[in-house]
Amino acid sequence: MELACFVQSLTLTLTVIGIYALTVWIYETFKSPIGILWGLSKQCICDVNFTERYGQWAVISGGSDGIGRQYARFFARKGLNIVIIALPDEILKQTAEEIESTFHVQVKQISADFSKGFELSDYLKNELDDLDVGVLVNNVGVANTLPVYYETCALSLYQRMVNVNINAAVILSHIILQRMKQRRRGLLINIASVAGLRPLPLGLMYSATKAFMASFSNALREELADFGIECQTVTPYFVATSMTEELRVDRFLRIISSDVETYGKFLTMIVGKTAQTTGYWLHGLTLTAINLLPADLTIKVAFEAAKSWIKKKNLTD
Ligand SMILES: NC(=O)c1ccc[n+]([C@@H]2O[C@H](COP(=O)([O-])OP(=O)(O)OC[C@H]3O[C@@H](n4cnc5c(N)ncnc54)[C@H](OP(=O)(O)O)[C@@H]3O)[C@@H](O)[C@H]2O)c1
Repeated sequence: MELACFVQSLTLTLTVIGIYALTVWIYETFKSPIGILWGLSKQCICDVNFTERYGQWAVISGGSDGIGRQYARFFARKGLNIVIIALPDEILKQTAEEIESTFHVQVKQISADFSKGFELSDYLKNELDDLDVGVLVNNVGVANTLPVYYETCALSLYQRMVNVNINAAVILSHIILQRMKQRRRGLLINIASVAGLRPLPLGLMYSATKAFMASFSNALREELADFGIECQTVTPYFVATSMTEELRVDRFLRIISSDVETYGKFLTMIVGKTAQTTGYWLHGLTLTAINLLPADLTIKVAFEAAKSWIKKKNLTD
């Protein structure tokens, strides 16, 4: 009798735990797709006027190429004037001219090397001071493209990575959010990475800087909500850009990389529709699969894959 009672309570407890775990999983997995579908259906009924909803200017760090360029083109198409902050090179000039002539909006080019870190603050503040900035995309980022053991890279490379991947976002958000709060409207988009959601041995500094971006963004979202400012965290998987060019000598990585225009189309469709996204349904499915595995296992698999990448590279060199 006592044993039957024990088995009954155990079954009930396990059922409750099971239902709770399943509910959490369903919520975590489907909140983003449901948010996107809801946003898209609302958009079908009444299209959003971006300049009214957010403001006149969109600032995109690293907006001259890759994913940032996709954002710059998108916001220009929506009628916003664009500020591109990037390295002073031909790519910046060409992208700015192309956007200006295609979408007939103003494009302000700000030449800045984010690897200089906090010494850029005053310069950027002066450049952005007079603008009604409605959108900030913290996109700029660099990676140590090839897998390497942590201590084999020079500290100067890590300093550069921290400045570009973290401090650029810290500085720009600090300058722009104060004004957005006063106006009680705006949109902040922070580009993290799937690599920041799980530690990545042999690429750990990049992965750690991206973990910072995800945490920074998800916490800021709560602070900003009371002021009518939206905040979206984007965690892409592999996209074929200059950043991943060297890695794409590997056939597997070439196959799984999304082409940047296709990625950009999906990514920009999701702007303002969900709090956190990979930006692309294929990346979303990949992340769901990763999340089904124990974290320790995914870290070990990533490590083994990176080690075999180094071995293959050494053989071909
Ligand atoms: N590609 C991927 O698979 C992937 C995956 C996950 C997350 N992400 C993230 O997505 C973001 C964009 O990456 P992406 O692949 O589009 O990179 P990308 O094609 O290399 O573009 C990077 C942009 O940042 C600019 N930039 C680089 N270093 C800079 C510096 N020191 N100062 C100022 N501007 C600088 C580049 O300017 P120049 O063109 O003049 O160099 C370019 O406009 C990054 O944060 C990255 O971590 C990318």
